[in-house]
Amino acid sequence: MLEARGITKLYGGLQAVAGVSFSVAPGEVLGIAGPNGAGKTTLFDTITGHTIATDGEILLAGEPVRGTKIHHRCRLGLARTFQHPVAADTLTVLENAYLAASFRRGRSGRRSRPDDIAAGRAALERVGLEGKAGVPAALLPIYDRKRLMIATALATDPLVLLLDEPFGGLSLGEIDETMGLIGRIRDSGVAIVCIEHVMRALVALADRVLVMHHGAEIFVGTPAEMLRDARVVEVYLGAGGGGSA
Ligand SMILES: Nc1ncnc2c1ncn2[C@@H]1O[C@H](COP(=O)(O)OP(=O)(O)OP(=O)(O)O)[C@@H](O)[C@H]1O
Ligand SMILES: [Mg+2]
Repeated sequence: MLEARGITKLYGGLQAVAGVSFSVAPGEVLGIAGPNGAGKTTLFDTITGHTIATDGEILLAGEPVRGTKIHHRCRLGLARTFQHPVAADTLTVLENAYLAASFRRGRSGRRSRPDDIAAGRAALERVGLEGKAGVPAALLPIYDRKRLMIATALATDPLVLLLDEPFGGLSLGEIDETMGLIGRIRDSGVAIVCIEHVMRALVALADRVLVMHHGAEIFVGTPAEMLRDARVVEVYLGAGGGGSA
């Protein structure tokens, strides 16, 4: 569903992403791990079009998209969440969701606000936020902001969902609920790529994990293989590494 081939991103002299390749299939979770500054978020930025990759190829459902606009990739079925929760703060929870739904895959050019609102409401129900539909987004606590970000992504009816640290800043109970939510999204057939430092969650959810270090891929394999890989333990999981229980 999504294939990245040899993605490289230079910021001046810095190689933020250095020749990374991966693919993810419908109903699969690919985990991405690695120390702070490894290039994980920058890799997502190149996939979505928030920045244009210096080199490499990105195929979304078979279509090359490297130089295309964010909204074009969104309408093809690509959605993401951000490491630092963002929302349209002056809008309500429901307004955020139906604004996102207006960009959804397969939506015809003809404007239909009732259809957008229905799609927005359905997305809020999937994340358990329907009871807060009328609340301004600015007033939401962190867990609700993160769930709203997932709802706005779901409202676009994605084929591929990129999650940038969905568990960061959450309590243990909230982490468990979010694991359940992401598992249900996966079971609905969405292809998921998930950046995460909370190893318990990544190990439970990911079918495969790609570990990055200084922009480059240093490991690809199952979560169990990752936990006993000497290089991953040395640069990331061991003492001083960024991984957490
Ligand atoms: N817009 C930018 N301009 C210049 N350098 C950037 C830019 N964005 C990121 N970088 C640099 O690219 C490198 C990779 O950053 P990135 O945010 O992708 O890392 P990360 O793996 O997501 O880290 P973290 O785990 O802390 O979120 C860092 O050295 C960062 O300072
Ligand atoms: Mg990051």
